[in-house]
Amino acid sequence: MTHIVVIGSGVAGLTAALDADGRPGVSVTLLTKATLESSNTWFAQGGVAVVTSSDDTVAEHVADTLAAGAGLSDDEAVEVLCAEGPDAVQHLIDRGVLFDVHDGQLARGLEAAHSHERILHAGGDATGAAIAAALIARLSQSSVTVRENTTAVDLVVEHGRVVGVLLLDGERLEADAVVLATGGAGQLYPYTTNPSVATADGLAMALRAGAVAADLEFYQFHPTSLAAPGNHLVSEAVRGEGAVLVDRDGRRFMLDVHPDAELAPRDVVARGIAAQMALQGGDPVRLDATALGAEFLARRFPTIDAAVRARGFDWGRDPIPVTPAAHYFMGGIRTDLWARTSLPGLFAVGEVACTGLHGANRLASNSLLEGAVYGRRVVDAVLGEHAQEGLLDDHEWAEPLTIELPVGGVPSSRADLQQLMWDAAGLTRDAATLTDAAATLAGWALPAATDAKSAEDANLRVVAQAVVASALARRESRGGHYRSDFPEPGAGPGVHSAVVTTRGAADA
Ligand code: FAD
Ligand code: SIN
Repeated sequence: MTHIVVIGSGVAGLTAALDADGRPGVSVTLLTKATLESSNTWFAQGGVAVVTSSDDTVAEHVADTLAAGAGLSDDEAVEVLCAEGPDAVQHLIDRGVLFDVHDGQLARGLEAAHSHERILHAGGDATGAAIAAALIARLSQSSVTVRENTTAVDLVVEHGRVVGVLLLDGERLEADAVVLATGGAGQLYPYTTNPSVATADGLAMALRAGAVAADLEFYQFHPTSLAAPGNHLVSEAVRGEGAVLVDRDGRRFMLDVHPDAELAPRDVVARGIAAQMALQGGDPVRLDATALGAEFLARRFPTIDAAVRARGFDWGRDPIPVTPAAHYFMGGIRTDLWARTSLPGLFAVGEVACTGLHGANRLASNSLLEGAVYGRRVVDAVLGEHAQEGLLDDHEWAEPLTIELPVGGVPSSRADLQQLMWDAAGLTRDAATLTDAAATLAGWALPAATDAKSAEDANLRVVAQAVVASALARRESRGGHYRSDFPEPGAGPGVHSAVVTTRGAADA
């Protein structure tokens, strides 16, 4: 019997657990640190990018993904995503996901930097919840052992192999394979679209265990979160339907920034907004969706409509204030095309992983698809069906930077860490600020992981250090990583960065 422990209940973890459950000789335990519904997946709005119509092609989806990745995307990883996407989405439909339909066909929306309308959505703007709810319902009909409110704190490594997971209460779970599907790290920043569970746990656990992480300088800031407490996302699909960004005088400033204006790549729109906000003394810009009409907005975007109205805005009548917020981590635990990490016994899928497919910037709505595609692939890898393939050895990866984890130091709060990250490793970076941030972090102690909150704080602290070091090392601007002191991309396609920690390096 092969025992697989899957950590995380987003689209990636749920897909992996359900696919593994069907295989002979396999038992699966799924851990999740809060309820099954607590995940970035649950909050996903715009939809799933996938080719489903005859006027669109996989080659064009590949081309759009590579263009968004700003030269750094791994071609093969992109090809896998786009080519296996239609099948993976059919699998979601077979598992009960009800995508919206228009005139008897799957309804398709448009988002920035897509050459075609190819974004499937569900419940209007509740795509993630629709996917997660359907998969969670399937879970209850499976033999997967589900443990909610169960926090993994570290990986157990013996003789260089991951053999289990240590839980917050001290329990040790043995496993033949551990699949990390722990999602993103939005809580590194004070302004984020991510829910509170997005605290980089899996990435920090993998770094402590000796795994190689990659591309950690690439963080995506979504251009349009509501400028109100909670930074509720206002989906790019709203701009895809025709909403425009205006300054405080009602002028469409993005027309001066990029030919695609509001539908330019995300990093361009986010920086365009930040620059306009700076000109306005920090006041948010406005998203003007009034031309779409209140009735259409409520029908097409019911989740956003409710959130916007709950905060006192009538977006059918007035433009609403929006601001960029931390949204998606392109970097993560380095994996091959089968979700294998550099550590035997350890696999990673979804936002926590870095196959290199998103390169320097993720194309909108490619992330749910990634979980659905690679969440299936990981099961084949765990069961040894692809054991002979190398770890992305046909691509350029930099020599890993070694991050020295602090011993001693002064305590700091999560709010301090988040502000430091926003100021130094946010939308715009430069050597002086990053160097100062690295020095500050070096003086801050690693919190002792005595409870769930301090365990998360320790994880955020480790990953913040790795992000700052990676951002300092990349002396160019590319995709989500913008250096005001090196505003242009370097020559050529660029090289994926890599990071290990001293603890990992010592154990390896
Ligand atoms: P998640 O869905 O984040 O799941 C991670 C899971 O791991 C959670 O269940 C969490 O509780 C659990 N976990 C974490 N740490 C631990 C631990 N220590 N122990 C146990 N469990 C743990 N992408 C798209 O493609 N289309 C969209 O329309 C879209 N909209 C988005 C809107 C919002 C508001 C946000 C925040 C993101 C959006 N994204 C979208 C991005 C996308 O939702 C995520 O990248 C994707 O859902 C990640 O899936 P995942 O399974 O990798 O991780
Ligand atoms: C959105 O709906 O704007 C988010 C889509 C994504 O992050 O892919």
